[in-house]
Amino acid sequence: MDASQADLKKVASYIKECQRLVILTGAGVSKESGIPTFRDKMTGLWEGYDPAKMATPEGFLKDPSLVWRWYDWRRKLVGEVQPNAGHVAMASLEARSSALESGPDHFTLVTQNVDRLHQRAGSTRVLELHGNIVTFRCFERGHQAHESIPFDLEFPPLCRCGALLRPNVVWFGEALPAAVLSAASQVARQCDLMLVVGTSALVQPAASLPYMALEGGAKVIEINPNETALTEDATTFLKGASGVVMPQLVRFLDGVN
Ligand code: OAD
Repeated sequence: MDASQADLKKVASYIKECQRLVILTGAGVSKESGIPTFRDKMTGLWEGYDPAKMATPEGFLKDPSLVWRWYDWRRKLVGEVQPNAGHVAMASLEARSSALESGPDHFTLVTQNVDRLHQRAGSTRVLELHGNIVTFRCFERGHQAHESIPFDLEFPPLCRCGALLRPNVVWFGEALPAAVLSAASQVARQCDLMLVVGTSALVQPAASLPYMALEGGAKVIEINPNETALTEDATTFLKGASGVVMPQLVRFLDGVN
């Protein structure tokens, strides 16, 4: 059974009262836009693709064309879909927090997603833990590619230094961008409320952020149609899809329900 009205109302009151809100998101928030998750049974990307081949520097070096074309397909897909009601509700929470509260650090959205749908929905305070798939950098020296890269190339284009270009994502075995991780850890430690939406909470270091929030005394609310590694430790579990539960929370905040 999905989250009860009483639980939704309670969490809406937490949002209303909190001073520093962090939302941590994962692939589940984009599922209702038509982007597959990674680990959902039958439909998750890792059901059909091997992460060691597709999402590691070694995999890229072994078969640059295969990895390039896989990211090209994913980049095309994210360009063809739209942000959903969950993304829009999260952007509206940011707009409220900047209107109602006193400082720019009252709201942070930390995402593991690389699809840029949060930004397209209007979120501006976004920390991308795993980079994004719409920009590119040099595989060897990290030079940022400023030109737009056409779709349907069979092989990665070259950087101005002659090395291969790669998507601006974090692959397994690579460190997260240090400044982004440090900012995310700081807001996690300092927040008094964290909403964890649409993530299996299995991949580190993102999976540690809710625990940093709990240790700092924050309430951690999980929103997911399925229980996860985090559920047992969450303050409240709101069972349901992001595109349903997040707008419900906003409606409760508006006093409509
Ligand atoms: P996962 O695929 O591991 O988990 C997706 C989560 O979304 C699951 O817990 C689902 O139950 C949940 N879910 C499904 N539909 C949903 C919906 N409509 N609303 C809300 N939740 C829903 O994705 P992530 O946790 O994001 O990293 O995966 C983390 C990282 O692992 C990714 O960033 C990626 C992957 O390997 C890299 O590629 C480095």
